[in-house]
Amino acid sequence: MKGIFITFEGIEGAGKSTQAKKLYEFLKSKDHKVLLTREPGGTKTGKKIREILLTPTDEIFPPFAELFLYEADRSFHIENVIKPNINSGFIVICDRFIDSTLAYQGYARGLDIKIVKQLNNLATGGLKPDITFLIDIPVEEGLKRIKEKRGFDRIEQEDLEFHKRLREGFLHIAKEEKDRVVILNGLKSEKQIFNQILKVLKEKSILK
Ligand SMILES: Nc1ncnc2c1ncn2[C@@H]1O[C@H](COP(=O)(O)OP(=O)(O)O)[C@@H](O)[C@H]1O
Ligand SMILES: [Mg+2]
Repeated sequence: MKGIFITFEGIEGAGKSTQAKKLYEFLKSKDHKVLLTREPGGTKTGKKIREILLTPTDEIFPPFAELFLYEADRSFHIENVIKPNINSGFIVICDRFIDSTLAYQGYARGLDIKIVKQLNNLATGGLKPDITFLIDIPVEEGLKRIKEKRGFDRIEQEDLEFHKRLREGFLHIAKEEKDRVVILNGLKSEKQIFNQILKVLKEKSILK
C-alpha cells in the first residue's frame, strides 16, 4: 500500500517542529508506520549540506548557490528517504519541503519564481505532499519565540523585511494551491492547532 506524505511549512518560530513531532507521536501511538524527517538535513549527506547552509560565513553566499544546495539536499532526501518510505506504506512527515524553498529563495530572496519551481520539480521528480500544513504567524512573534529559545543561524539573521516577504510568500503559495495547502493560525495554543490538524486529516480522508 502506498503511504502518505505530509509536510509542515511556515516562518521561523511558527511551531512547525512542535506540531510535526506531536503528529508523529500521535500516529506512532496508534500503531501507524510513520517517519518524521526534515529539510535540510534528512540524510547523511544532507546533514553536511545543512551545516553549509546554516553556518554563518564571511564569504559571499550567492543566492543561486543557496538554491542549488537546498535542491541537492532535497534530491538526496527524496531518493534515499521520502520515496522509499512512501512506497513501503509509511506516513512520512517532513518538517519543511518545497514551499520553504519557494518562499525563501523565491519570494524572500527574489530569485525567479519559475526557476525555483522548476528546480523544486527536478529535485522531487514531481512528487508533491498529499497535504501541507502552513502554520502562519506574525513575523515579530515567530522571531521572538526563537530568540527566547536559542541564537539565530545564518538564515534567521536576515532582517525583518526579509521575514515579512517570507510570510507573504507562504500565504501566496497557499492561495495558489488551495487543495494541498491548509493554513493554520499559529497564535492558537499547541493543543488547538494539533486538534485542527487531526480534524483536517479526517475531513480530507487522509486519516481514517
Ligand atoms: N502554539 C504555540 N504557542 C506558543 N508557543 C509555541 C507554540 N508552538 C510552538 N511554540 C514554541 O515556540 C518555539 C518555536 O517552536 P518550533 O516548533 O521550534 O517552531 P519552528 O519549527 O516553526 O521554527 C518553541 O519554543 C515552542 O515551544
Ligand atoms: Mg523547526
